[in-house]
Amino acid sequence: MRYKHNIILIGFMGSGKTSIGKRLSLKLKWEFIDTDDFIEKREGMTINEIFAQRGESYFRDLERELCSRYSEPKCKIIATGGGVIKNRDNVKDLKKGGIIFYLKSTPETIAHNLRNDDTRPLLRGGNKLERIRTLMEEREPMYRECADITINVADLNMEETLNLIEKEYNRYENKRNKRTKH
Ligand code: S3P
Repeated sequence: MRYKHNIILIGFMGSGKTSIGKRLSLKLKWEFIDTDDFIEKREGMTINEIFAQRGESYFRDLERELCSRYSEPKCKIIATGGGVIKNRDNVKDLKKGGIIFYLKSTPETIAHNLRNDDTRPLLRGGNKLERIRTLMEEREPMYRECADITINVADLNMEETLNLIEKEYNRYENKRNKRTKH
């Protein structure tokens, strides 16, 4: 049996990758993987603890190692960490096996979603909205460049988001299969 391409969710922290990925996984009955969750379980530490005790580059190495395992189409839904696009090898691997969806949001929506959240080391201290704005400005061109499909999640409710991802996925998957047959 030929597996379909994975659905890869990228985007800024707090844009909904995990919650959307979990819901999609229930809808499509595909396995769901959250890379941060996987890393936390493997290390027996939270992301905050990993950053504080081992440093960001240690975390990036773990993230890199994990992405290299998902370069084949296997009907999986993968929610990545917001910084996964910083390493182009991650994107290359994930793209080989999947279709990359950029869940695009706004700094205001993200600040609202993360108003009570203290689990993102890169957003700790200072004015959260300002940090989000600055980091998003830096990251936005990378997300855009890596994405196969962009979904403006700030304008959609959960159901609309899931339906749109499914529709765009089917369209893209058909196109990709046609291309590989010729
Ligand atoms: C990060 C995003 C986080 C997590 C880590 C670094 C980033 O994941 O991987 O805190 O660099 O944007 P989420 O996008 O799931 O919050």
